[in-house]
Amino acid sequence: MKSRSISLLPWLLLRCVTITLLISLTASQDNRKANTSIHQLLFNHSLTYIVYMGNQPQLQSQLSSASLHMSMLQRVIRSNIGPGSILRNYRKSFNGFAVKLTEEEARIMAGMGGVVSVFPNRKRKLHTTRSWDFMGFSQQVERSTTEESDISESFNGTGFGPPPTKWRGSCQVSANFTCNNKIVGARYYKSDGEFGPDDLPSPRDTDGHGSHTASTAAGNLVSMASLYGFSSGTARGCVPSARIAVYKICWSDGCDDADILAAFDDAIADGVDIISLSLGSSNPHEYFNDSIAIGTFHAMRNGILTSASAGNDGPSRSTITNVAPWFISVAASTIDRKFSTKVQLGNNNIYEGISINTYDLQNVTYPLIYGGDAANISGGFTDSSSRFCHQDSLDQNLVKGKIVVCDDLVSGEGPFSAGAVGALMQGQRRRDRAFSFPLPTSYVDTNDGSDILLYINSTRNATATIYRSTEGNNTLAPIVGSLSSRGPNPITPDILKPDISAPGIDILAAWSPVNPVSEVKGDPRFVPYNIISGTSMACPHVTGAAAYIKSFHPTWSPAAIKSALMTTATPMSSAKNLDAEFAYGSGHVNPIKSLNPGLVYDAEAIDYVKFLCGQGYSTNLLQLVTGDNSSCSETIRGTVWDLNYPSLALSVFPFESNNISSHVFNRVVTNVGSPFSTYKASVTAPGGLKIQVNPNVLSFTSLGQKQPFQLTIEGTIIESTVSASLVWDDGVHQVRSPIVVYVVS
Ligand SMILES: *[C@@H]1O[C@H](CO)[C@@H](O)[C@H](O)[C@H]1NC(C)=O
Ligand SMILES: *[C@@H]1O[C@H](CO)[C@@H](O)[C@H](O)[C@H]1NC(C)=O
Ligand SMILES: *[C@@H]1O[C@H](CO)[C@@H](O)[C@H](O)[C@H]1NC(C)=O
Ligand SMILES: *[C@@H]1O[C@H](CO)[C@@H](O)[C@H](O)[C@H]1NC(C)=O
Ligand SMILES: *[C@@H]1O[C@H](CO)[C@@H](O)[C@H](O)[C@H]1NC(C)=O
Ligand SMILES: *[C@@H]1O[C@H](CO)[C@@H](O)[C@H](O)[C@H]1NC(C)=O
Ligand SMILES: *[C@@H]1O[C@H](CO)[C@@H](O)[C@H](O)[C@H]1NC(C)=O
Ligand SMILES: *[C@@H]1O[C@H](CO)[C@@H](O)[C@H](O)[C@H]1NC(C)=O
Ligand SMILES: *[C@@H]1O[C@H](CO)[C@@H](O)[C@H](O)[C@H]1NC(C)=O
Ligand SMILES: *[C@@H]1O[C@H](CO)[C@@H](O)[C@H](O)[C@H]1NC(C)=O
Ligand SMILES: *[C@@H]1O[C@H](CO)[C@@H](O)[C@H](O)[C@H]1NC(C)=O
Ligand SMILES: *[C@@H]1O[C@H](CO)[C@@H](O)[C@H](O)[C@H]1NC(C)=O
Repeated sequence: MKSRSISLLPWLLLRCVTITLLISLTASQDNRKANTSIHQLLFNHSLTYIVYMGNQPQLQSQLSSASLHMSMLQRVIRSNIGPGSILRNYRKSFNGFAVKLTEEEARIMAGMGGVVSVFPNRKRKLHTTRSWDFMGFSQQVERSTTEESDISESFNGTGFGPPPTKWRGSCQVSANFTCNNKIVGARYYKSDGEFGPDDLPSPRDTDGHGSHTASTAAGNLVSMASLYGFSSGTARGCVPSARIAVYKICWSDGCDDADILAAFDDAIADGVDIISLSLGSSNPHEYFNDSIAIGTFHAMRNGILTSASAGNDGPSRSTITNVAPWFISVAASTIDRKFSTKVQLGNNNIYEGISINTYDLQNVTYPLIYGGDAANISGGFTDSSSRFCHQDSLDQNLVKGKIVVCDDLVSGEGPFSAGAVGALMQGQRRRDRAFSFPLPTSYVDTNDGSDILLYINSTRNATATIYRSTEGNNTLAPIVGSLSSRGPNPITPDILKPDISAPGIDILAAWSPVNPVSEVKGDPRFVPYNIISGTSMACPHVTGAAAYIKSFHPTWSPAAIKSALMTTATPMSSAKNLDAEFAYGSGHVNPIKSLNPGLVYDAEAIDYVKFLCGQGYSTNLLQLVTGDNSSCSETIRGTVWDLNYPSLALSVFPFESNNISSHVFNRVVTNVGSPFSTYKASVTAPGGLKIQVNPNVLSFTSLGQKQPFQLTIEGTIIESTVSASLVWDDGVHQVRSPIVVYVVS
């Protein structure tokens, strides 16, 4: 939490200035109010807060909840409040509003009746790799108006009938954007109204992330899709016949909580079936201080499963932040494809690096120079920045027409804008996936990098060429990418997160024709399909699989669909994966098997309420959240181990690890396989750990029948994290749950 406030400081200052300007302009007709606002803003650091009020009362009209919000605000601010103070009212699917408040006002507001939580409107980020891996992220693009009016073949509405009758959403027709029978709804959200120069006030995707994720989940079949011949084949979403509604909440400055909640408020009311959310924050937050946990909770109560990306802050442990048990959290793994890019030096040595290099230098050699020998001294740079080839740090006169060697994985903007012909980057991080760069580039390891630097030193006339990439078979796949955020779960240690893994490394999917391949300004390559990586790319694979299940089993609850996905996932190798289950959860998604799981671990809203009672949330808070009379009595307060979750996790203190006392997990399985079936439990566990299942045979005589069982863990663990599993097997279905026992540090 400490590091969070530190890292946010520059941002807070910046935001204060901007908000001040906005207010003083909009409120200029009311001097008195303007003075008050400016005073507050300058001296009390007014910020946008989310006031979350739980369930939307059935009887309350949307109008009256807006006036309720206003009267609450009046009680807190005690002065005339302009119409612009409340940025958003949430009043369709849950209750709350986004409002500018001082810290003191926020504190008072949090104590008011009916308020669940008040938390600052924070920025989230997309879970692609660009936004965090490369500094100098740029979305500035040359716009091509002819291309801009095109619609990707992945979203062509020809052949689709009108939207389903249950669809209640709308299409914000604006700035060169219309919907069709494939994209049946589209809206954009920017509560603060602060559009950057590259932001289009339209649902239109100017970045590519939205097209990529949407087409992965539900894009049409498009034959012969490729990136300049790479990854060529038929591009298709998991459910090509599904319709898509898009809610654009992310902009060049990130994704605001206020907008995330507004999109959930609408999407739930619009009648969507599954929500795909490829974004998140870097820091974990308590469930009801977290816009994603709140939005997904209300979605779950309305029968909508959300698939959310785990995050791209791996491989460090406990970096996952999308962790609420009522949605499914998705890790990113490799697929059977890898890109390598050969480099040949003037001495004929050949090195193999990693990148997606669509350029062909035709075997022509170019002079080779080390970035550390080419500092832009007149620009105030030294070799300590030019060796990393940072933007502007290179002397154009020295690198023009040459291949530059850089001491790290960087975006390539520095060499590109300085006029270099190519770049060789060297480093060890993020070598399990391939990046696109704006110029011919290969990313070699540090051993090869040292060789190349020795060669440069050994001759006055160093030269090199870079070959077009070749595509190979990654036979080790699937392995969870190093970028993928890991467990343990920082909020509820005994709920295993992430839940599942799906392809997220080097994924080809639809792209916005206005953002170039490398996302670097000036890159002339504009394409309909691009290859990128991230848990953002993994999430829609699971979204698509969930939609696939829902199309066969329309009455299944979000928890049942999630259980089907998790218990049929293909187990992954803990030997090949750093952090085992904390990297991949139940394993690799298997859409075909998930249609027919045999048994499911079902859960309804009340089960999550019991869980939340057990986590210490009060009756008062939970009644607001649910809008019913749930109360945390002894009978309803459930331990975390009793939440009917399709995986099992137990955290123990170091002193317990050699004598873990008996912990009981209660579970209930529902028969969705054959009416008459008998399942036997089979447990695998390392020596020393005793896991018992009681009863260990379950017999069913009808579909929908439920059978409870208890699983008990005790004994000793000799490593800090151990993996075990429970499989219910009837000879046809293997219903597998991973079990993780680990020592908390
Ligand atoms: C607001 O500021 C203006 C100009 O600074 C001043 O004339 C006016 O009296 C102020 N109003 C109040 C209510 O302080
Ligand atoms: C703003 O802060 C000042 C000084 O900290 C305080 O005197 C004043 O009452 C605050 N105003 C509001 C509206 O909170
Ligand atoms: C977050 O939630 C906790 C517990 O519900 C609460 O004590 C805290 O004040 C909340 N923080 C914010 C910023 O709302
Ligand atoms: C959509 O597909 C139809 C039929 O294949 C084709 O005629 C039409 O040109 C496509 N539309 C767009 C915008 O690509
Ligand atoms: C929309 O397209 C027209 C040309 O068809 C172009 O002039 C205009 O700039 C575009 N608008 C935006 C916001 O891109
Ligand atoms: C480049 O060299 C490779 C072998 O090193 C050869 O196979 C290829 O044909 C050459 N390409 C051109 C354009 O000369
Ligand atoms: C050095 O960097 C500055 C920008 O900081 C740039 O304007 C200038 O062209 C660069 N000089 C050379 C020789 O590359
Ligand atoms: C290349 O030479 C420079 C100075 O001549 C030296 O500082 C550097 O370490 C050498 N690089 C390598 C890789 O040997
Ligand atoms: C450097 O290479 C060029 C051709 O690539 C050649 O003409 C020149 O003689 C070489 N100079 C030295 C010092 O090796
Ligand atoms: C990669 O190799 C595996 C077997 O080693 C094979 O099953 C798979 O189809 C191959 N993939 C590609 C893309 O060639
Ligand atoms: C809630 O109250 C109603 C009557 O007001 C009662 O029928 C119902 O059982 C109560 N539910 C719970 C969970 O207490
Ligand atoms: C393990 O702990 C239990 C109490 O929880 C105790 O009765 C037992 O003697 C302990 N066993 C060992 C080997 O320390």
